[in-house]
Amino acid sequence: MRNKILPSLLAADLMHLAQEVDAVIEAGADMLHLDVMDNHYVPNLTFGPAFCRALRKHHKTIPLDVHLMVSPVDTLIEQFAASGASRISIHPDATTHLNRSLQLITNNACQAGLVLNPATPLDCLTYCAHQLSFVLVMTVNPGFGGQQLIPEVLPKIKAIRRQFPELAICVDGGVTEQHIATLSEAGASEFVAGSAIFNSDNYKKSIQALAMQTAS
Ligand code: DX5
Ligand code: ZN
Repeated sequence: MRNKILPSLLAADLMHLAQEVDAVIEAGADMLHLDVMDNHYVPNLTFGPAFCRALRKHHKTIPLDVHLMVSPVDTLIEQFAASGASRISIHPDATTHLNRSLQLITNNACQAGLVLNPATPLDCLTYCAHQLSFVLVMTVNPGFGGQQLIPEVLPKIKAIRRQFPELAICVDGGVTEQHIATLSEAGASEFVAGSAIFNSDNYKKSIQALAMQTAS
């Protein structure tokens, strides 16, 4: 099956954001990935709900995948849901009451995702997998685009696939054409890609190349 590809707008040319968004949608993006950073949970600052609302106003159907790297999360979950987000993912260490925050996402008609940092174990999935539409496995430390993938995370993807065969696994960080087949082999089916798409000369070619490299 074809991989789902989620361009991360963090790597887009911010001076030409509207054209960049049009271009990746035209090139076959399955969803748009919005990295929301607060200079608290991670040492960087990016987009807020107003940006999500603007995207939704101009693009009614493309799924918007909001990755919250903020703490606390609850207020922003409600704001992003009201701004047109389709899926919202949160880090377990960014909220005091994980079950309640995940519930808040689904109560606001969005799909819920749990994000695991490279050193976060799987334990927290045990009692919340039933609340999730997907798990977002970080293959870099969150906060910046353009980092190298940490290969030690691969066994974690395999372990999630073994323990939760039905759960969609999305991978985020340092995804390139070079190792997407290995990630797919390990059990991932959705891929966030920032630099690999926006630093290329041809978005359509790079999205197609990422989408076609599946487990054999
Ligand atoms: C990192 C972000 C990623 C990042 C991916 O905190 O969650 O989504 O934008 O960018 P690349 O593909 O450049 O590693
Ligand atoms: Zn992300």
